[in-house]
Amino acid sequence: MMTHAERIEQANRAVARAGANVQQEVWRPRYHFTAPAGWLNDPNGLIYAKGLYHLFYQFNPYSNEWGSMHWGHAVSSDLTNWEHRPVALAPSEPYDDEPTGGCFSGSAVEAEDGTLFLIYTATARHAEATVQTQCLALSKDGVNFEKYAGNPVISEYPDGISKADARDPKVFRHDERWYLVLGASVGGSDNGEGKVLLYCSDDLFRWEFISVLYSEKERCGTMCECPDFFPIGDKWVLTFSPMKAEGSPTAVYVSGTMDFDTGCFAAETSGELDLGPDYYAPQSMLDEDGNRVLIAWQNGWSWMPWWRSFGPTDVENWRGCMSLPRNVSLREDGKLRLAPVRQLERLRYAPVFYEAVAVDERPMQLSLVDGTSFEWQLEASTDDISSALELRIRDNGTNYATIQIDLRKKQLTLDASRCDPFSTATRSCPLELPGNRLTLDIWIDRSSVEIFADNGAICLTCNLYPSEDQTGVSIRTMGGNGIVNKMSLYSLRAAGGEVIV
Ligand code: FRU
Repeated sequence: MMTHAERIEQANRAVARAGANVQQEVWRPRYHFTAPAGWLNDPNGLIYAKGLYHLFYQFNPYSNEWGSMHWGHAVSSDLTNWEHRPVALAPSEPYDDEPTGGCFSGSAVEAEDGTLFLIYTATARHAEATVQTQCLALSKDGVNFEKYAGNPVISEYPDGISKADARDPKVFRHDERWYLVLGASVGGSDNGEGKVLLYCSDDLFRWEFISVLYSEKERCGTMCECPDFFPIGDKWVLTFSPMKAEGSPTAVYVSGTMDFDTGCFAAETSGELDLGPDYYAPQSMLDEDGNRVLIAWQNGWSWMPWWRSFGPTDVENWRGCMSLPRNVSLREDGKLRLAPVRQLERLRYAPVFYEAVAVDERPMQLSLVDGTSFEWQLEASTDDISSALELRIRDNGTNYATIQIDLRKKQLTLDASRCDPFSTATRSCPLELPGNRLTLDIWIDRSSVEIFADNGAICLTCNLYPSEDQTGVSIRTMGGNGIVNKMSLYSLRAAGGEVIV
């Protein structure tokens, strides 16, 4: 059997060999994070440590399909420009070496002596049954990780919890102790009941089960994947991605109050982090100023009702990107607000500003240096527009996607069904329009669109696969004349590896 170091070397060589088919790249996002080649899913081990942001991720360096999970690794000094690092974790031990398993999702913390701890789910098969245990890998330099000889550190679960579905530990520090939340299922992810478990530890090696933190049936579906638990102000926020929950939400949150003495979380408010089809397994970290930042995998799984495929980007030798890092804040009513982190503003160039724009039913073309990677901010009031607005993006006259905002019905609809042969999504969501005002911030990046409405109370993320000539951008009303109060359009440059270490 090869050692972990040999497996890592082999994986790094595979990445270097695969490279990317740059000539043909039409869909690879310019400023959303993608792996150098191969398959990517969940963000893992997000942490700001020793002046650098670390983004680890579920990675198959050998294929554009999911399998044999490794942890890819990249670092950034500004959450915008990322630099690839060698693969951090590879399957190499009896507890994690498995083509349909490997090193599954998990998190990172920095111990007092500066050691970086990764805690991940090892997935293996024993006597034909899938077994998930929680394991550690340690690093002094933040680049080379060694698996702990005493792994696994958690292999027993409370009664009824399926050993095949206990995964995605997210560790955090609270009141001088380590805690972790773990996704779990009683009865298994096919038709069981999802749970979030809480454990605690004094040294990161020995863990004790405390409580079932959350198990609300409707919200949890059959399995709670990738839970996270963090404080904002005097509230605690639990996030996770439920499998097969009612209404098929992809990422939910529950805010409330937490009593660590009893392990009881009293849920108060809940909602969805994103209403689009392509936002899954978000994980959070604190940025250098203490703000909570969320990053998610921008895709979905085949068990989701609307799923057709993972998209055609395998022809470019990559599959999967991360959503933009989003700042999380809590409104007075306990609902969350998400907004792209401010650092992304440094990608902007060639801005075009509009004020008091007269619009009618004829599309008004907006000119942009780059109609494939840009940001579009818009402000309007129901006093000045009586019907609906239609924003067209990625338009070549025949194919395009639309974002329609019905200001009377207070509803936003993204329709990607006419955009390209792969996109089918049509998604509608309710808007609040506080003070009768519409605010929109839309980030478009080749095969990606992320929409933030109502100051980030509504988010909708979707992948598109338009052709290169779909660069037109326009706006019109869907009935009558109106005035759009403000618009800003920015072309956005490619992010790159400019990390100062
Ligand atoms: C979520 C997930 C996790 C698991 C990982 C495997 O997308 O299914 O629960 O750890 O992906 O790649």
